[in-house]
Order: sequence, then structure tokens, then C-alpha cells
Amino acid sequence: MIKLIITGGNGQLGRAINALYKDREDICCVNTDVDDLDITNLEAVQEFVAKEKPYAIINCAAHTAVDACEDQVDLAYKINAIGPRNLAIAAKANGAKLMHISTDYVFAGDADTPYREFDEPGPQGVYGASKLAGERFVEKFADRYFIIRTAWLYGDGKNFVKTMLRLAETMPEVGVVMDQVGSPTSTTELAKAMDALLFTDNYGTFHGTCEGVCSWADFAEEIFRLAGKDTKVKRITSGEFAAKAKRPAYSVLDNYMFRLTTDFTFADWKDAIREYMENLEY
Ligand SMILES: NC(=O)c1ccc[n+]([C@@H]2O[C@H](COP(=O)([O-])OP(=O)(O)OC[C@H]3O[C@@H](n4cnc5c(N)ncnc54)[C@H](OP(=O)(O)O)[C@@H]3O)[C@@H](O)[C@H]2O)c1
Repeated sequence: MIKLIITGGNGQLGRAINALYKDREDICCVNTDVDDLDITNLEAVQEFVAKEKPYAIINCAAHTAVDACEDQVDLAYKINAIGPRNLAIAAKANGAKLMHISTDYVFAGDADTPYREFDEPGPQGVYGASKLAGERFVEKFADRYFIIRTAWLYGDGKNFVKTMLRLAETMPEVGVVMDQVGSPTSTTELAKAMDALLFTDNYGTFHGTCEGVCSWADFAEEIFRLAGKDTKVKRITSGEFAAKAKRPAYSVLDNYMFRLTTDFTFADWKDAIREYMENLEY
């Protein structure tokens, strides 16, 4: 039996991994969330991993509230940096692989071609900086690791798609940012990509996002079109939206390492969102 510890197992990505493996009798997912295992607690992590002796730890736990991280700096670093450090230490001590999930927000967003794994990071806010610190701890303390940077995730949980559909219930027009571009990525696609690496020795840092590029405003328009809503998208600037945390304007990742080292290809973002909405109740 292949045992996987999935931290943040009840989050969007954690659920997608569970869905992917639900019919696999040879794989056992040990899901944990903050109440079962607080990844910021080194001793608890060491004890848990030593008891479970997993094949791999998949770290889906994170402080993902980008604006809140600006006010909760210590908490952001505890969860996004110390947490993966603890998991890396425990993975190494117990001979387990570590798959850690990171983000496009480690980059500055001032490029005009998609970021590759070999490009220099330059986070703009606390969330991105704390996630970058987490990556560095994983590189330093784990032996056999995969770091996967993804972006604009949606799946089973709170996300942009559901927010747009909720707003469309009551609003004829929704203001959505048009000057940040990226690649909306389905957790189902990402879980398949993770599976393509997990059982290999193909270690390192990978960018993993759906193919194609759009702005948040384009994404919202596609969501309304697929949902058959006539809600209008008012294309606004990041300045007008005035979020607390600065976000990268150009947040496009090139899945270069996947292309160089695997046969895996991500679906186009438009195909992935269509499939997601076909299975969504709203
Ligand atoms: N969402 C995105 O758009 C996006 C984009 C790029 C990268 N990512 C990365 O992708 C990964 C998965 O994201 P997601 O959207 O699935 O996140 P999510 O839905 O917010 O799930 C994160 C999970 O981590 C748990 N958690 C928080 N603090 C914890 C702690 N101290 N110990 C253990 N568990 C803890 C949360 O529990 P509670 O809910 O109880 O706090 C939640 O279940 C994260 O690494 C994130 O940084 C996400």
C-alpha cells in the first residue's frame, strides 16, 4: 500500500488529489488539516510522520488569503515557510518524498514572456515572499522533493469562479480587474500533473498551470458565458479595485520543466473551466 500524507487535505487541491485517487486500492491518503496536524508545529509534524511512515507527503496546506497575509505577517511565514520546513525535515528523517505546492506570486510580474523555473523570483507581497521562503526551506532540508508552482486555482472550495457566480445572482454588472493576466488552473488538472511526477525520481521545481493566458476580466466573462448569465463585466484597473496586497501584473508561468522532462501536458484553461462548470451545481 502506498501511503500519502496530504496536509491541507480539506482545501481545494487536497480534495482534488483525494478525488483522483479515490478508486485506487493501492493508494491510501492520510488527510490532515490544521486540527489534526498543525504544520507549524515541528514536534507534532515529526511525531506524525514517524508514526505514519508515508511514501510521500503532499503539502497542500497554506495561508492562501493574499490580502490577509499583509496584516498577518508572522502567521503567513509560520504556515507558508516554517510549515514546509518542518515537513521537509520530517520527510528526510523518514525517507519520504515531499511534494510542495507554491505559487506564481513568487515572481514580480513585470516580465513580458512567461516565467520559467530558471527565472529569478521577486515577490511583491508577504504571501509571495513567505511562499518563496518555504520553497527555499524545502530545497535546503528535503532530500527528494518536487516544488510545483501553480496559479489562479479553482476546484472544490472557495474560489474566483464561485465568487463570480454568487455576484451574478444579484448584480447586473461586476467590476473585474483587466490589467493582471495569468492562467486559471483547475485543481483536477493540477492533481493529474502531480500524479505524473509523484512516483518518479524526476525531482526539482516545476511550473504547473493550465495552458493559455487571460485577464481576470476575461476569465469572468468566460464564466458568465458558460453559465448562461447575461451579467456584464466592467473592466477595471488594479488601482480601481484597490486590494491590500500588490499582485503581479504579468503572472504567466511557462510549464517548461514539465515539457522538458515529462510527457504530461496541461489542458487549455478554456477547456478546463468548461469541464469544471459542467460538473458544478449552481
Ligand atoms: N488558490 C490559489 O489560487 C493558488 C494559487 C497559486 C498557488 N496556490 C497554492 O496551492 C496550494 C493549495 O491551495 P488551495 O487553494 O487548495 O488552498 P486552500 O483551499 O486555502 O487550502 C489550504 C488548506 O490549508 C489548511 N491550513 C492552513 N493552515 C494550516 C496549518 N497551520 N496546518 C495545517 N493545515 C493548514 C487550511 O485549513 P483552514 O481552511 O482550516 O485554514 C486549508 O484546508 C497552496 O500551497 C497555495 O499556496 C494556490
